[in-house]
Amino acid sequence: MQKLTPSQRSIKTKPSPIRGLVNLANAQKKKGVKINHFNIGQPDLPTHDDFYKAVKDFKEKNVAYAPTQGRMEAQLGWQKYFKSIGINYKVEEMIVTSGGVEALFLAHAALLDPGEELLVFEPFYPYYANQADILNTKIVPISLSIKNGFHLPPVSEMQKKVTKRTKAILFCNPSNPTGVVFTPQEVKAVAQFAKKNKLWVIADEVYREYAFSRPALSMAKIPAIKNQVILCDTASKRFNLCGARVGVLACHNKEFYKNVFKLAMARESVATIEQIAVAALLNNAKKYYGPSIKIYAKRRDAVYAGLKKIPGAVVHKPEGAFYIIIGLPITNSQHFAEWLLTDFRQNNTTICVSPAAGFYQTKGRGHDEIRLSYVVDIKVINESMDLLKKALEVYKKKFPKFCK
Ligand SMILES: Cc1ncc(COP(=O)(O)O)c(C=O)c1O
Repeated sequence: MQKLTPSQRSIKTKPSPIRGLVNLANAQKKKGVKINHFNIGQPDLPTHDDFYKAVKDFKEKNVAYAPTQGRMEAQLGWQKYFKSIGINYKVEEMIVTSGGVEALFLAHAALLDPGEELLVFEPFYPYYANQADILNTKIVPISLSIKNGFHLPPVSEMQKKVTKRTKAILFCNPSNPTGVVFTPQEVKAVAQFAKKNKLWVIADEVYREYAFSRPALSMAKIPAIKNQVILCDTASKRFNLCGARVGVLACHNKEFYKNVFKLAMARESVATIEQIAVAALLNNAKKYYGPSIKIYAKRRDAVYAGLKKIPGAVVHKPEGAFYIIIGLPITNSQHFAEWLLTDFRQNNTTICVSPAAGFYQTKGRGHDEIRLSYVVDIKVINESMDLLKKALEVYKKKFPKFCK
């Protein structure tokens, strides 16, 4: 008789490295310890009143299903926002999704069959790998290195990873988890590589505006690959709206759209009221995201200044998003992150960081790196960078076998 077991797929899936330490952190909080969170990419800035006003103004007598492709208000909102940054999509080229992850999942599912390969630069946002596990596709990592600040390797290195099964390349710019904003030359090189190898491009551009050193060139602005780009976006980060769960998938390719639409039908649609309320912000997007850019840029400077004072740390100035991966003179960042939570205190405070190994697919990588997400105010950043410096001094004495 068949056993009552969950699927191998679910058993094989790794828990998120981002949330992995949360239980440990919560246990310490219950004991009264103050934890400064640098592990989760949840903006701390307030959601604008205009969003809540739009929710209150919803007066339809029934909260009906939205159409598969989204409420017209939200589609038009996305169209207007894209137009304001020089990207043109027709309404019938967009599907409103449940956040950026659903856009990514739908793109992945509509492009790759089981066993087919998706190229991704590592370190990467871990849910790409979870989606591959669910879909039985294969992520083929192209490794980036902290030595050159996680910028791209020569195209010849990328070419080595292409096989008969390679179907697409996923490109996240600005990058979570590294904070890199790829140069226009790098973006164009990836586009050319995709064109030459006939690969789809899944463009994850959810941090588009958070680009401090240079603008992030969108894949959607490269005419040569117009018909093979699937743009994935979300209101989450730009409008401090992670819980609204409103994103978008956009593409010019009619055949792809026709087929992804059928997959989207199987999940009905996105929440009606949230879509309408997000549309209110999309219609005047810059008003809402403009102030946040300045705030994150200042925080970036504070994080960088603090990290530069840590002996042995490998730090490149983050260029965008609100993340940074740093190298530390340690060999087991999981152990270090746990120890910070369970043992280290400064004024009854500690910090929660993400060990970086969870952002790599290649075994053995990331154990001497951590990712920090700077969605806390400057005072907390300054306190925490100082705390991290002191913590490393203590850790080195206590655990020389885990130090370089
Ligand atoms: C690179 C990247 N892509 C996509 C997403 C998902 O966005 P959402 O929360 O809107 O699903 C995130 C969220 O952290 C992200 O960092």
